[in-house]
Amino acid sequence: MSTTATFPSDFFFGYATASAQVEGAPNADGKSPSIWDVWSHDPSHIKDGKTVDAGTGFYEKWREDIALMKSYGVNAYRMSLSWPRIVPSGKKGGEANAKAIAWYRDVLLELKANGITPFVTLYHWDHPQSLQEEYGGWLSEKMIVDFEYYSRVCFENFGDLVENWFTINEPNIHSMHGYKTGQQAPGRSSDRKISPEGDSSVEHLVVGHHLLLAHATVVKMYREEFKKGNEKRQIALVVNANWGEPMDDTPESILAAQVFFDCNSGWFSDPIVFGDYPQTLKDICGDKLPQFTEEEKKLVKGSTDFIAINHYTTMMIKKRTTPLDPSDQWNSFVPDIETSFFDKDGKEIAPEAGLIWCRTVPWGFGKLLDYLWKRYQLPIYISENGITCPNENDIPREEALHDDFRINYFTTYCDQMALKISEGVPIKCYLAWAFTDNYEWQEGYSARFGVTYIDYEDGLKRYPKDSAWALKKYFEERTAKEEGINDEEGRDRRCD
Ligand code: NOJ
Repeated sequence: MSTTATFPSDFFFGYATASAQVEGAPNADGKSPSIWDVWSHDPSHIKDGKTVDAGTGFYEKWREDIALMKSYGVNAYRMSLSWPRIVPSGKKGGEANAKAIAWYRDVLLELKANGITPFVTLYHWDHPQSLQEEYGGWLSEKMIVDFEYYSRVCFENFGDLVENWFTINEPNIHSMHGYKTGQQAPGRSSDRKISPEGDSSVEHLVVGHHLLLAHATVVKMYREEFKKGNEKRQIALVVNANWGEPMDDTPESILAAQVFFDCNSGWFSDPIVFGDYPQTLKDICGDKLPQFTEEEKKLVKGSTDFIAINHYTTMMIKKRTTPLDPSDQWNSFVPDIETSFFDKDGKEIAPEAGLIWCRTVPWGFGKLLDYLWKRYQLPIYISENGITCPNENDIPREEALHDDFRINYFTTYCDQMALKISEGVPIKCYLAWAFTDNYEWQEGYSARFGVTYIDYEDGLKRYPKDSAWALKKYFEERTAKEEGINDEEGRDRRCD
């Protein structure tokens, strides 16, 4: 469905990336190893057997990249900071790395000089390896103290250049894949074929709890010490939120879809808005789920200035009727529900894309936006949204540049967003994933999410895909012009 609704002139449109996925330069200028540096060096962990070492070479090519980004018509860019680059020891009191700080400041200044507003994530899954070795990373409460210190260093050194902060990226995915399925660093799991250590029945819940407390601790510090009454300064947690549509209108399917939301997104979004976990999650996890003390509830409640979501797809949900495969650790978190890309009549709701977990289902995005607004009553920022095209990595570059599949995904999803804005849902920002192809975690470089093709065989050269121009045109045509922008007063206002 197409719509003529426009985006307001102050709407943010841009792209997102993350430090470990693009920077490369794993040892440059005093950086210490991250959990991904270490974990990706075992080729059995990664689909194409490649390490995170090269990334897209952003550490070298950032100027070229910002110029390219600018040519895509963006006014925003989401990036993350590398904890092991900025505080190599990782620890409270550890020396802040002046070279890393200077590099990030250069990047941020260049963005601003190009009229691009930075959205900065403090932690996108790449903490120092030393903290994993010393006390088990996010399994330990000690992490909260060290994350608070690192965040303080970031606020002190970049606070004059950054108004939009994200604390932690997708704690739900990080906990599940890092500590339950073992598919991502640090790769802990009960499955001894995957990991020598780990307890998939409980570790992800403990890690999730610590991530929430770390997030809320940092938000408190930011609000008390760095916000300084400046309403433009804001901070939020980024939650992965896909939509689960009931398979049919039976109470069982409706409940199953609610459980799907509560156990994936509500696990994190409910505490930061309401101060506690959803009841369904408590019921399912029993005493394995840590409890917040009264003090912690107060800390966590209201600890986000807006709802930031990474949204990718929609699935049909029903109560489980087939036996659960015991190796399916992802679904074993909520063993009573089944997810599917087929509806109740066995019809596919969308064709396959390049990865099995993501398909183009724009109507589900619309439903999610309605639901989030109704449930949380906070402005909504889309911090990621994207897809891989079928076989994209297996076809010649020239062919891959014509990514109509992705154009269809982006434009139909953005149409939903425009429609919801016209209906009064306060959506403020759209950051597509991703600016360039990059290191897709356990898929290595084999899954391409970018609007820019990276030639991994030829010096990491960049080639815009058709989707980069299509999305530029889409927003140009639909974004209201800023009033007074052509007069003196207008220009002055923009420079504020
Ligand atoms: C969400 C994650 O934040 C990002 O790092 C990842 O590459 C995309 N999803 C695509 O899977």
